[in-house]
Amino acid sequence: STGQSDARGALIVLEGLDRSGKTSQSARLLSHLNGLGYPVESWRFPDRDTAVGKMISSYLTNQSQLDDHTIHLLFSANRWEKRSLMEAKLKSGTSLIVDRYSYSGVAFSSAKGLDIEWCKAPEVGLLAPDLVMYLNIPPEKAAERGGYGGERYEQLEFQKSVAKYYEMLSDPSWKMIDACLPLEDVEEQMKEIVLDCVVSCQKGKPLTHLWL
Ligand code: TMP
Repeated sequence: STGQSDARGALIVLEGLDRSGKTSQSARLLSHLNGLGYPVESWRFPDRDTAVGKMISSYLTNQSQLDDHTIHLLFSANRWEKRSLMEAKLKSGTSLIVDRYSYSGVAFSSAKGLDIEWCKAPEVGLLAPDLVMYLNIPPEKAAERGGYGGERYEQLEFQKSVAKYYEMLSDPSWKMIDACLPLEDVEEQMKEIVLDCVVSCQKGKPLTHLWL
């Protein structure tokens, strides 16, 4: 094979605590790859625009109450409802920069006390990211960044527990980014890592599935 027919977009995931800078960095990476002429889209989970996403949003803003297992499965369903579009985009050559994914799902629900293996189960079969970048920041520092916005999970003690579960979920392939550095420095580091990944997927690196 020349590899040409297997060329595809890269599935790039950004993870980290609330206020670690994922959303700003997603936007910067999007315009960087765009500028280089790579087809790319920026996605995020939860995707609050779908019917499931609206239930999640109402829960996060404390407008509704849900059992911990129920909201966990809704977050997962929100990824499943986007799965086929995600695969189609990647196969058509578009790279996706995704702000949060299954790791958020497992880390946040486990931090509430749900069994970690139970949390992983509904994620099995979703597309595995080609790259996970973890924006690493001490929970105290994240909390200082202009304060939290008042959504359900934006509390220091809870975020400390989430950080522990992220650590348990992380593997040596994750790129750990020091999110305490100035935005521009973080951006420079991430640009380089992302470009490597996009190039290797263009060369036909196979798509795989969770849970790895
Ligand atoms: P956001 O601030 O990135 O929109 O995410 C909203 C909150 O939802 C954030 O505190 C992380 C949490 N979350 C989960 O608990 N499970 C999930 O599967 C995802 C994607 C996010």
